[in-house]
Amino acid sequence: MDRPLSLLFLLLFILHLSRRSHQQPINPIDKAALLAIRRTLDDIPGSNFFSTWDFTAPDPCSSFSGLTCFPDPSSSALRVTALQFGTGLSDSPGLLGSLSPRLSNLTQLAQLVLFPGIVTGPIPPELGQLKNLRVISLTNNRLTGPIPQSLASLPNLHTLDLSHNQLTGSIPAQLTELPQIKVLILASNRLTGELPSRWTQLLHLDLKMNDFAGRIPSNLPSSLRYLSLSENQMWGPLKGLEKLSELVFLDISMNSFNGTIPSSLFRPSLNSMLLQRNNLFGAIPPRTADQSYGPGSVIDLSHNFLTGQLPPTLAGAESLFLNNNRLIAKVPQEYVKSVCSGATKTLYLQHNYITEFPMEKGAKLPDSVSLCLSYNCMVPPVGLSGCPASAGGQLCRPAFQCAVFNNGTTIA
Ligand SMILES: *[C@@H]1O[C@H](CO)[C@@H](O)[C@H](O)[C@H]1NC(C)=O
Ligand SMILES: *[C@@H]1O[C@H](CO)[C@@H](O)[C@H](O)[C@H]1NC(C)=O
Ligand SMILES: *[C@@H]1O[C@H](CO)[C@@H](O)[C@H](O)[C@H]1NC(C)=O
Repeated sequence: MDRPLSLLFLLLFILHLSRRSHQQPINPIDKAALLAIRRTLDDIPGSNFFSTWDFTAPDPCSSFSGLTCFPDPSSSALRVTALQFGTGLSDSPGLLGSLSPRLSNLTQLAQLVLFPGIVTGPIPPELGQLKNLRVISLTNNRLTGPIPQSLASLPNLHTLDLSHNQLTGSIPAQLTELPQIKVLILASNRLTGELPSRWTQLLHLDLKMNDFAGRIPSNLPSSLRYLSLSENQMWGPLKGLEKLSELVFLDISMNSFNGTIPSSLFRPSLNSMLLQRNNLFGAIPPRTADQSYGPGSVIDLSHNFLTGQLPPTLAGAESLFLNNNRLIAKVPQEYVKSVCSGATKTLYLQHNYITEFPMEKGAKLPDSVSLCLSYNCMVPPVGLSGCPASAGGQLCRPAFQCAVFNNGTTIA
């Protein structure tokens, strides 16, 4: 091949490439859908997300912000595969309006994201037609109505985050059984009813701040790493949690759970365990694991009806809240060491029936430590700095209360 001819081929090839990446037309149905979707949404003053959405532009796929396209293998046109409404920047007020049912015309859509704003109205049930959807994230807006049952038929749905809206109704049947679902975040809505009884292999389940009732399902998936049921109306024993051996984060605080705490939950790999403000009773189980809690660990068992002595197991947790229970006797030496070395940064033991915090005379606490010992059956050996205001100003309990709970009980 001579030189000018090969140059010509090179030029044609480059032209071909640039056509592919820049001038390939968007599918006309997708373009019409975008126009309809745009008509129901707008920038809140101060947001300028839609400033790039000029429908006279030749190439929406490369000029509209928030849009990702991909060539459709069966035609030459580009299809919308991802749509992100809003910038997600903290200084942007976001969007208002509502979500158009015409979203369902974007049949290749795999990802739909709506950043925080004040978008109102329902989640269009038509989204259930988008069989390629993998990610739906519509958080921090004012969406109302139920979670559409149709979402429970999305075979590829991996992540569903509808948190911080005003959604009502219960979790649709089969949503928690979707074959691909791994992340389900419905926190901070007005959802009611009992939790489903059938589950696939979820990793992350966040249902906090709703009005869910009933017991913990007995068959939550053992794959769970993150579970929050905090601030609901749930009750019953903590059955169903023992076998969640992968859990790293557990928050069931502020419900009405009543029962004892399974000893299998006291393992350092469960790095955050928040069980406060329930009706849990019984003793905190003694040591079950050889490892000890380390940096970053948070154990909150406060505001329950726990009895018995403090087990050495928990010493070493970075933040440990055992206040407002019925714990008795002397604090084990391990706790004192952990606080004095600074490994434990917060230790709340106020409002119990504890008789001694065995700190050596002249020992000093690091400045970073919050230690609260007020309202027990002793005079605290150190001042009450770091105590929350809710602990009150009283150093000790009245003696008659202490007589009932500490009648000759000592550490063996
Ligand atoms: C576009 O979506 C609307 C609303 O779901 C539907 O009625 C219409 O049939 C769809 N059009 C096409 C071409 O799919
Ligand atoms: C737990 O609470 C429920 C509902 O208030 C009650 O019926 C049940 O007896 C309680 N169980 C225990 C073990 O206290
Ligand atoms: C201590 O008090 C508890 C509860 O009131 C009681 O069951 C127990 O028998 C008492 N023990 C002693 C040694 O008095």
